Amino acid sequence: MAEALASAPPAPTPIARASGADASATEEVVVLDYGGQYSQLIARRVRDCGVFSELLPHHVSIEEIIRRKPRGIILSGGPASVYAEGAPPLDRRLLELGVPVLGICYGMQLLVHELGGRVEQADVGEFGRSDLLLSDPGVLLAGMPREQTCWMSHRDTVFQAPPGFTALASSSASPVAAVEDTARGIYGIQFHPEVVHTPYGQQILTRFLADVCGCERTWSAASIVEEQIRRIREQVGTGRVICGLSGGVDSSVAALLVHRAVGEQLTCVFVDHGLMRKNEGEQVISTFRDTFKVPLVAVDAEERFLVKLKGVTEPEAKRKAIGAEFIRVFEEEALKLAEGEEAGGGGDDGEHGEARFLVQGTLYSDVIESGGGTGAATIKSHHNVGGLPEDLRFELVEPLRALFKDEVRAVGAELGLPERLVWRQPFPGPGLAIRIVGGEATRERLDVLREADYILQEEIRKAGLYRELWQSFCVLPDIRTVGVQGDERTYGHVVVIRAVTSDDAMTADWARLPYDLLETIASRMINELREVNRVVLDITSKPPGTIEWE
Ligand code: XMP
Repeated sequence: MAEALASAPPAPTPIARASGADASATEEVVVLDYGGQYSQLIARRVRDCGVFSELLPHHVSIEEIIRRKPRGIILSGGPASVYAEGAPPLDRRLLELGVPVLGICYGMQLLVHELGGRVEQADVGEFGRSDLLLSDPGVLLAGMPREQTCWMSHRDTVFQAPPGFTALASSSASPVAAVEDTARGIYGIQFHPEVVHTPYGQQILTRFLADVCGCERTWSAASIVEEQIRRIREQVGTGRVICGLSGGVDSSVAALLVHRAVGEQLTCVFVDHGLMRKNEGEQVISTFRDTFKVPLVAVDAEERFLVKLKGVTEPEAKRKAIGAEFIRVFEEEALKLAEGEEAGGGGDDGEHGEARFLVQGTLYSDVIESGGGTGAATIKSHHNVGGLPEDLRFELVEPLRALFKDEVRAVGAELGLPERLVWRQPFPGPGLAIRIVGGEATRERLDVLREADYILQEEIRKAGLYRELWQSFCVLPDIRTVGVQGDERTYGHVVVIRAVTSDDAMTADWARLPYDLLETIASRMINELREVNRVVLDITSKPPGTIEWE
């Protein structure tokens, strides 16, 4: 909804630890992305093995790769055929760096094709589960069962390993499904070790990382915390930092990291727009202010937002109204903080100066999506703190820029963030307002929706299903239906239950909640909420539906 954050143009921020004097402090394995659907997953799995990994576009310059001093290079899969015109090529210099290389799927085909083996275009592909038969386990597959399942997704097929290589395994459709040349440190597998359907996948990756590349397990939540604290201190010095806290896991973890690093130089601003879920505002305030002792300005802006939402029914107009007001409130608070500091007699370069830095919870997936992390600065269009005016100039502090979502949660847990916040389901910036569908978000409707949502969350938690669901929430359409309760005819609200499973919100499936649970939820809503007389379940996946209704 919001524009990209307008701030002082940030200095290009190379992600993670790949910049600066300590470029070799953490071991890194580079994953080159040839466009495969699982490329991000490869990087995540490598990190699961305790080794830091970055996903870079396949066309990244060799200098960029050398600068990272990688311990290993993985070539991902991709949709092209090595014979296709314009197929992404292999930079032969990669093989001369003295760094082990592992090609996966297209990555293997590229290596084989380039080094004199035989890859052929096949009419029939091999998609899904396949049986892998090891003929010679070599180094890469040593100690693993002779027969195992794996996950394949390819049309072109390797028929002969290049000279100097050993063929390690085959499947019914792939005469050569794994190869290695230990002398040159080049390895290839046709199947996907990164997906769960390859049971020995993680073991194979570990073998490559530990035994072939000689990596140590240095990447962990604790090491991330340590490293980020050091980096934040380096960036911020004695300057003042401001952070917009939404209560979501990203901004919470980012704020805690910054607080650990620079203590009271940080002030968090929590704008309660009155569109939160029940008790959420209080939880954020008490967690940060009381438990973590983070300086926190909490603004109760409910009235202001309700005024702006008066008469607004169209979804985009709602989002815009909320986004614009959010910026206004946040800006006012930032200015107040700056003025307060000035009155305190500070200059703008010391501890008492104007907040020069703004914390953003940009994640690694945002970085990848907007250019692949080759060092280009990216600014997330943040749903909560968007489009700050030009004259409020901040330098961005982005301590989560190198992290995947699951790593953010692990860091949150490491920092002692309560489980409720660590595992909070995503919640849209415009909050409950965009769940009052087709009508105005009034206080009365918001209250009904908030109570219904509370019942839903409580029952889902009780059933132990909260973490399994990507999101679960209620929607309140602006309609009423007829009912009968006691001896009375009612004309009340309809509450919609929406619960979905998903990995990334790009696609989602409606969750098959148990009937008994649905019944408990529905009867509690109707019994406890006087205004509600009907409960329905949304059984639409995404696509064709979106997760939210507006
Ligand atoms: P849809 O409805 O597009 O939602 O399937 C995908 C994910 O994005 C969240 N969402 C939003 N988040 N501001 C946000 O911060 C918004 O305006 C917004 N709209 C949707 C939604 O909850 C889901 O996780």
